[in-house]
Amino acid sequence: MADVQNLVNNSVDMEKSVFEPPQDLRNEAHVKSLEQYQQLYKKSVDHPEEFWSDIAKQFYWKNFTTDKFLEYNFDVRNGPIFVRWMKGATTNICYNAIDRHIENGLSDKIAFFWEGNNPEDHDRITYGKLLEEVCKCANVLKSLGVKKGDRVAIYMPMILELSICLLACARIGAIHSIVFAGFSSESLSDRVIDAQCKAIITSDGVWRGTKLLNLKEIVDNAVKLCDDRGHTVEKCIIVRHLSPENEIIVHDDVNGDQDQEPPAKRPYNKFKINWHSGRDVWWHEVMAKSSPVCEPEWMDAEDPLFMLYTSGSTGKPKGVLHTVGGYMLYSTTTFKYVFDYHPSDVFWCTADVGWITGHTYVCYGPLCNGATGIIFEGVPLYPDAGRFWEIVDKYKVTKFYTAPTAIRTLMKFGDEHVTKHSRKSLKILGTVGEPINPEAWLWYHRVVGNEKCAVVDTFWQTETGGHVLTPLPGAIPTKPGSACVPFFGIVPEILSENGETIPKNSNKEGYLVFKQPWPGIMRTVYGNHERFETTYFKKFPGYYCTGDGARQDKDGYIWITGRIDDMVNVSGHLLSTAEVESALIEHEAVTEAASVSHPHEIKGDCIYCFVTLKEGFQFTDELLSELKNIVRKKIGPFAQPDFIQNAPALPKTRSGKIMRRILRKVAVGDAELGDISTLADESVVDILFKLRPKEA
Ligand code: WT7
Repeated sequence: MADVQNLVNNSVDMEKSVFEPPQDLRNEAHVKSLEQYQQLYKKSVDHPEEFWSDIAKQFYWKNFTTDKFLEYNFDVRNGPIFVRWMKGATTNICYNAIDRHIENGLSDKIAFFWEGNNPEDHDRITYGKLLEEVCKCANVLKSLGVKKGDRVAIYMPMILELSICLLACARIGAIHSIVFAGFSSESLSDRVIDAQCKAIITSDGVWRGTKLLNLKEIVDNAVKLCDDRGHTVEKCIIVRHLSPENEIIVHDDVNGDQDQEPPAKRPYNKFKINWHSGRDVWWHEVMAKSSPVCEPEWMDAEDPLFMLYTSGSTGKPKGVLHTVGGYMLYSTTTFKYVFDYHPSDVFWCTADVGWITGHTYVCYGPLCNGATGIIFEGVPLYPDAGRFWEIVDKYKVTKFYTAPTAIRTLMKFGDEHVTKHSRKSLKILGTVGEPINPEAWLWYHRVVGNEKCAVVDTFWQTETGGHVLTPLPGAIPTKPGSACVPFFGIVPEILSENGETIPKNSNKEGYLVFKQPWPGIMRTVYGNHERFETTYFKKFPGYYCTGDGARQDKDGYIWITGRIDDMVNVSGHLLSTAEVESALIEHEAVTEAASVSHPHEIKGDCIYCFVTLKEGFQFTDELLSELKNIVRKKIGPFAQPDFIQNAPALPKTRSGKIMRRILRKVAVGDAELGDISTLADESVVDILFKLRPKEA
């Protein structure tokens, strides 16, 4: 069944093109063959209500009566878009993630191992203890005035308290909005204001590799920005994670002077933090006084569970909203089948809980299955490039899930860092976040997996809640670089620009869309349902549009070709070009900016910017670093452009629209521009080519 043509990648000497599931894995798998997958898949799409209600019965429901198991409209021409699964039924995801397992005798099972940034730092928590801590935290939140439906922002490092906070919110029905603790104060404040969060939970600081981050200071600055824009954050809970010797400066005036110092050079034990009496509370103090018993709030299946911001093409991030029942079913089921979960597994997803991957596959998916997982605070290269495999051996990890960018980084450091560790426990290797190049896939399979593990390339989005295209490790033969086949309940199609269905197996590229809802699909953009409809449903009425390009080969395998909108996928994180441009424009020297994606060996894509300067400004190295910094400050360090070039003018159409297609060509130095007759001034292009930075 090899579709060799698809697989050939010049730089790769393809040994085999299709990889059958490893026999041992197949023997124990929940789905053992292609035929069995096809049967289940057919049922899931022909009779979704039956399929998902069988699954729903495995959870605890306070009340399992629904008006209609599934109701939806995917077609803007027929009225508002909506999706409702199991409306009327009541449950609590925290109860299903913890209490249910304790009732089944799993109180002493490890829920999480915690591995610190430093290899000597570690901890663990059982399901029994997790329940106590979650209940205490839930009671703390209640005592601070947080109620069902309130939004709580979480800005935390990868520590056990992070999972405790998220589950505590879920327990009392508060909507958590986790912001990755790498975003800047400004990004954090935008998100806190948009969601009108009542409280923020953070920690004093964190070490990431050799870098010390002052999270409390970032939060203080964000709260100040919120205040300036008329939103008061009532409470901040601070976990003391670094050192009890931190120097604390008490402020009684919440809006008072922030006493700022550059955070980077502070010694560990002299880490200063500002304290705002009345607003700030120490986690350990409030937790110590809190009761370890808390009745869950019984939630409607369609009540909101959490929101998570993702970049939008207009530059303003969208609060993707997920609801309790559908997300619970989908995160649990994808985890079970895609990682072929068994009770003796130790599962490790390296993603930060600040991204959707961490929500679904560090927390909810594994916990709802009663699995043992790992929360890792550090980074892949600290103290050395063997850290991942050292951890794999330390905890005997069976299923491992990471991003192509991490795989490519580690590949560069050589095989020895991998091969000096045994990795004997590994059975399944997963990847997510961006298309994986066959070369990296093959290295992952051959070097990390010793050719004995299944590799699952899982395609999904913040919006989809869980995997939507993926192989099942015991059933689906894999092809390096393909996300393979739809998960249960997913009906993919590939459409042309004008909405015609591209025949299956034709290998023609088009827009990847889904024809019917699955339980984990987002329900709305928080506070802006119209934007939800416009972004995902307007272009192709009747379909959810992913924004990704794809093609399907003659075996029916789907190959993602990348974003077709103005999004850039940097190391597996989506950024909009507009977001970066609006940051650049804030610099006094810039009159106009345009940014495009540029291929990058490790990050997949990186950001390449063109800036037009105002009269009287020079494009100096100093300006260049100021421009990079403004993006770091406005969005976060991970968004920093790799290239910024001087653009005395931008290529525009006569109607004034920037022709990004041309900018993408300039960025990669490709002079084959195609048709440029719509350009208002063709001479602009030559100038841009001349001014390209040499290293690009
Ligand atoms: C975008 C979603 C969902 C987890 C992390 C990213 C790209 C994701 C794959 C994959 C090719 C992928 C897509 C998608 N993407 N996984 N396996 N193969 N592309 O979440 O930030 O919402 O980004 O990531 O472009 O639309 P996200």
